[in-house]
Amino acid sequence: MRVVTLSENSAGLKKGVLAEHGFSAYLEYADFKLIFDAGQTTTTVHNADFLEIDLEGVSIALSHGHYDHTGGLVNLLRRTGPVTVYAHPDVFATRYFRRKGALRQNGIPFDRVDLEGMAAGFKFSRRAQEIHPGLWLTGEVPRLTEFETASDDLVITSEDGKTTVDPLLDDQALVVVLTRGLFVLLGCAHSGMINTLEHAKEVTGVDTILGVAGGTHLGFGGKVKLQKTVDALRSFDLEILAPCHCTGFAAASALAATYPDQFVNNSVGTEIEL
Ligand SMILES: [Fe+2]
Ligand SMILES: [Fe+2]
Repeated sequence: MRVVTLSENSAGLKKGVLAEHGFSAYLEYADFKLIFDAGQTTTTVHNADFLEIDLEGVSIALSHGHYDHTGGLVNLLRRTGPVTVYAHPDVFATRYFRRKGALRQNGIPFDRVDLEGMAAGFKFSRRAQEIHPGLWLTGEVPRLTEFETASDDLVITSEDGKTTVDPLLDDQALVVVLTRGLFVLLGCAHSGMINTLEHAKEVTGVDTILGVAGGTHLGFGGKVKLQKTVDALRSFDLEILAPCHCTGFAAASALAATYPDQFVNNSVGTEIEL
């Protein structure tokens, strides 16, 4: 398995790559090629070119419907042509980010019909699905820990204009089954990093998690959630811990300080092979 970070909030050493708030990763697993999330605008395709990653023959999967993971879809579809896109049906929910009483659009910036018109062949599932032998999308993640609560600044509105916290049921991760255990790729982990890792074990029936990478949303959850997550991660015995995107500097620093041998500074161009 090979995973390359294509779009992320920081750019690595490779010349010419660009960063933006968002996430996208490229995965090669035997002869299967997948783009997990599409970044916010044009960085996914731009960086794939600079990193010499061939987008011919890829499939696409979406971790959830936020603009910073889906806004790059049109640009990506222009390059791929007809392509299967795995997602939860709620990726098209209208959603907002609430700050100081004001609402800002936070959802996918395209209509389903427009994307289908560009040859996106959606395969929707609310439940876990094995999209290729040994490669799983988790589907909805049960929220079991007491400390991984929903963010009250991420909201949806009902027809009467009422605002409620977005349950983000579409939030899911990608799970790769390897000989020695699992590799888990997170989008934003809005369901909670620990909940997601536990669900990955449940879905695959594999108890060992070798590595985890991607957005953890720990940059937005406060100190208690961060500390409890850092502590809970100890039980997984990870070999690789490569958080990025919505993890933020403070949470990444805490993870790096606690797990220095496992920590990978994950930015655009970072490659993980297992
Ligand atoms: Fe995000
Ligand atoms: Fe998100």
